[in-house]
Amino acid sequence: MTHKRVAILISGGGSNMVSLVDSMVGDHPARPCLVLSNDAEAGGLKKAAARGIPTAAVDHRPFKGDRAAFEAELLKPLEQAQPDIICLAGFMRVLTGDFVSRFQGRMLNIHPSLLPKFKGLNTHARAIEAGETEHGCSVHEVTAALDDGPILGQARIRIEAGDSAESLAAKVLIWEHKLYPAVLRRYANGDRTPVLLP
Ligand code: GRF
Repeated sequence: MTHKRVAILISGGGSNMVSLVDSMVGDHPARPCLVLSNDAEAGGLKKAAARGIPTAAVDHRPFKGDRAAFEAELLKPLEQAQPDIICLAGFMRVLTGDFVSRFQGRMLNIHPSLLPKFKGLNTHARAIEAGETEHGCSVHEVTAALDDGPILGQARIRIEAGDSAESLAAKVLIWEHKLYPAVLRRYANGDRTPVLLP
């Protein structure tokens, strides 16, 4: 069986990356081929290396906002790894339309809200401020518009009285770790039927 090759892009601790990597075993149709970060100090790189996965880092800061130049460097480890699928997992750089178009139809992202609600940052605080009773996370295919592509999975939770942005983030993260692996397994099998949790 030829496994699909998956590259995972991270910026921080990498808990979603770990849940993806730990799920790609046994009869799973995919295997990780690279964990790539825009921060060489990202905690997730050490976790990936400890699991025997090739890692690389391309620091965005020296490019001083020149996204095309940053992405030209970011492409080098990707071209070496030759992924079939790219998973953005807590990758906090906004990618240009040019970069996205190279991987159109094979790049996924996890976002901590029930898209299309609360695209962008601070999703948990905004959901509480808006008086929402439900919240959650979404996995979508990446397109040029931020947090906008076809939805491939969602997990819903109730917002309880007394929930803070922090307590909500912690609850949603638990479901992120279940949703993303479930979507990736289906997607790597060529199945785009949305995963709906719980
Ligand atoms: C997650 O909540 C993810 O949805 C968001 O950033 C957080 C990253 O967590 N984009 P981790 O780095 O995967 O632990």
